[in-house]
Amino acid sequence: MPVQGLAPTDFANSPLSRVLRQPMLLGLFLPIQNGGWSPSLLPRGTTWTFDYNAELTRQAEALGFDLVFGLAQWLGKGGHGGEQRYRETSLDPFIAVSALSAITTRILLISTVHVLYGPWHPLHLAKFGATLDHISAGRWGINLVTGNALKEPVMFGMDRIEHDTRYAMADEFITVLKRLWAEDENLTHESPHWTLRDAFVTPKPLYGRPILVSATGSAAGFGYAAKHSDLVFITSPAGAEIEAALDALPDHVAALRKAAAAEGRSIRTIINPMIVSRDTDQEANTYLCAILAAEDVGAVDGFVGRASDSQAWLGHRREQRVLGGNIQLIGGPERIVDYLLRLRAAGIDGVQLTFFDFQPDLTFFGSRILPLMAQAGLRLPDGIA
Ligand SMILES: Cc1cc2nc3c(=O)[nH]c(=O)nc-3n(C[C@H](O)[C@H](O)[C@H](O)COP(=O)(O)O)c2cc1C
Repeated sequence: MPVQGLAPTDFANSPLSRVLRQPMLLGLFLPIQNGGWSPSLLPRGTTWTFDYNAELTRQAEALGFDLVFGLAQWLGKGGHGGEQRYRETSLDPFIAVSALSAITTRILLISTVHVLYGPWHPLHLAKFGATLDHISAGRWGINLVTGNALKEPVMFGMDRIEHDTRYAMADEFITVLKRLWAEDENLTHESPHWTLRDAFVTPKPLYGRPILVSATGSAAGFGYAAKHSDLVFITSPAGAEIEAALDALPDHVAALRKAAAAEGRSIRTIINPMIVSRDTDQEANTYLCAILAAEDVGAVDGFVGRASDSQAWLGHRREQRVLGGNIQLIGGPERIVDYLLRLRAAGIDGVQLTFFDFQPDLTFFGSRILPLMAQAGLRLPDGIA
């Protein structure tokens, strides 16, 4: 009988258990790729560089954010296209986010990894993950993704694997990882995909295993998340418009929680809002209009036409891709907090924020919105878990 081992939530003092005391988890989606989430040409200071992202991470940690997170992508020359060659340049999140562990002390650090490209060998990731777990004192986690893009696997000399087969392979991969992290004997595992003979990893992670995250909207992805993930990035099945999202989310979240309950587990849901806020609703709308008016048409076309088989973003219309984000919260601080309260009521445990221009917009969020979140009971009164 394979040992699945303990999870960070089984330890009251783990960094994950600590942040889960927050009524609403707060994360920052780092812009380690050029263009961030918005293929707009409106001038901004946001850049993909490590120093910029390191500064954002320090700022987020000082504000009491619970986690930072980087996406992973593989794009050819020109990226998604347009004048800005949208996302042509990006840092690898496994390396970049890992490096952030050395300059932070409290915030959780999540790296996206495409485990099926190459493919990775589970023994590599088990060793690397255990190492990072110790460097970060239990703050590091993996957002395991299977690769929805048609062209990405081609860069590795592979064809895209069928959607549900990818999740079956991910299930095998993560099960092997969990066994390597948990078991105190050499491991032998044979399958068509991965073979290990007398494999062993130590040091063992400090809190059972690193934090496990996945991002999905499909039945197969929910099945995977229900079995393995601590945090699940869910998406609005109804597109980015907030009222439509709020209508659709309760049933969507209920389906995921039901799948987790069938595995005897509970999971936390996180969604990715783009926040456009200024002192008043009117000023926020003016900012939004400026972003949209500067649309980088070729970049939006390229992004929308990228032949993804993701089921999680089917509800998103082309015009919603200019600003980006899975849902969009536009307005003055009070309106934003009202949306966040309603998201909480719809079953969302946390938000992973993106902004158009990260540094000034994060500063605004910290000074004008975060205090209202605490007043509304969405964050612990002193801000830090
Ligand atoms: C918040 C969020 C972040 C994601 N980050 C990545 C990423 O960095 N790289 C990637 O290839 N896919 C990423 N995805 C896509 C997922 O891995 C997955 O392919 C997508 O959600 C569709 O899954 P589904 O077909 O199971 O619904 C992300 C999805 C979400 C919701």
